[in-house]
Amino acid sequence: MVHNKELRPSFHITGGAGWINDPNGLIYFKGKYHAFYQHYPHATCWGPMHWGHVVSDDLIHWERLPIALYPVEYSKEDGCFSGTAIIHNDTLYLVYTGFYENGGGENIRQLQCLASSKDGINFEKHGIIIGEDILPEKYSACDFRDPKVWMENDTFYMIVAAKIKEGKGQIIMFKSPDLFNWEFVGEVLPEESKGIMIECPDYVKELGLLMYSEQFQPNEGYTHLNVHSCRYETGNIDVETAKFNSKSKGIVDYGFDFYAPQSFSNKNLIIAWLNMWDRNNPSEKYGFAGTLTVPREIKVINGVLLQKPVWNYEGSKEIIVESTYKDNFKIGAIKLEISDLNALEISLRKLNKNEFKINLINDLIVFDRSNAGEQIMGIEKDEDSLNGIRRMPLINRENVEIEIISDEFSLEIFVNGLSASFLIYPDVNATGFEINVDCSKCKLTKSEYK
Ligand code: FRU
Repeated sequence: MVHNKELRPSFHITGGAGWINDPNGLIYFKGKYHAFYQHYPHATCWGPMHWGHVVSDDLIHWERLPIALYPVEYSKEDGCFSGTAIIHNDTLYLVYTGFYENGGGENIRQLQCLASSKDGINFEKHGIIIGEDILPEKYSACDFRDPKVWMENDTFYMIVAAKIKEGKGQIIMFKSPDLFNWEFVGEVLPEESKGIMIECPDYVKELGLLMYSEQFQPNEGYTHLNVHSCRYETGNIDVETAKFNSKSKGIVDYGFDFYAPQSFSNKNLIIAWLNMWDRNNPSEKYGFAGTLTVPREIKVINGVLLQKPVWNYEGSKEIIVESTYKDNFKIGAIKLEISDLNALEISLRKLNKNEFKINLINDLIVFDRSNAGEQIMGIEKDEDSLNGIRRMPLINRENVEIEIISDEFSLEIFVNGLSASFLIYPDVNATGFEINVDCSKCKLTKSEYK
């Protein structure tokens, strides 16, 4: 393994140095896309949370701005946890969870706070907007976090993850006329979560889409193997009662490394943390841990959430693949448009015996990262997880579109709109790319990152 201290992803958002987790406050403001993220700049592990900040014109190239929210050193909070952004009166508001350690245990407090900015760069904190006085008795103020705010009929609505005392996770809703004064409306989910706590709820009103991440949820077949995993449900929140009428359910991503997706305010676009809790981070030796996924356009068709990575294929090479293709490829995007697919094997980041494998087995796309470089281990104990395997259904063999977004340490793979995201740590020189396909037609578009 070539050891390069400066090694970073080429186009995925990182914190530069140190640790990042969830994306926060995704929004288009004054002509730029803004992405914030949970950030601890001083070490490659989770610590007092800051909000890091990057901006972009095209959602592909990002520029780093100064840290937007600081904890302890500069304010009363011990951490600025995840949250959302919304524009009101030409001002950018960040609604986030203030974390107060208070000696730990039962004394921890997680309360909802507000900050604002006129220029989208410098933020002023306004303190707590939903404290213990507004949170009903039924819920614990130790586990009350990750607000998502939107506007409907001139009223602001906020969903927040909460924990029922002696119980499990729930999503609760509040409303406000002005972002500063809030009142409780009700519970969103018909029953408490399967996992011990819900995190990072997100609602895309325009699509009728609710997403949330769950901690320590039970396994459910081959698609729900990550102990912490991210679900979606389609339906609508009735803003009078907070009740959500769930019409269909699914998992947001079929890979190993995807958590806490958040939608852009007023746009059908999401970004998630391309990583997972309770796993080792081989990138620590390069001085960073954690990246975000590329932005993905989302839609809901027949109750199924479909994703398409944002990418510019202009000037890319198109090749017709006749059964076998061999090339080199590392940083960029690949698109395969395949008709009448019978058999498929794709090998990525190949060097000697190492590779990341994609195989079509029966009606499942099987991803194998067991041999793709340095090992990443989690707390999952099922056979697939221990063997580096994840599986995803293939919905329509007549017309298959596969997109692969490949960076130094990650592969995000989209098959007919379903997504599977993976971190990988191969040798920097592992660039081999091979396709073996049996089909009536296969067009390959290859686009290097510029
Ligand atoms: C999810 C999460 C959030 C919390 C944040 C803290 O990954 O645990 O619930 O706000 O990370 O960094």
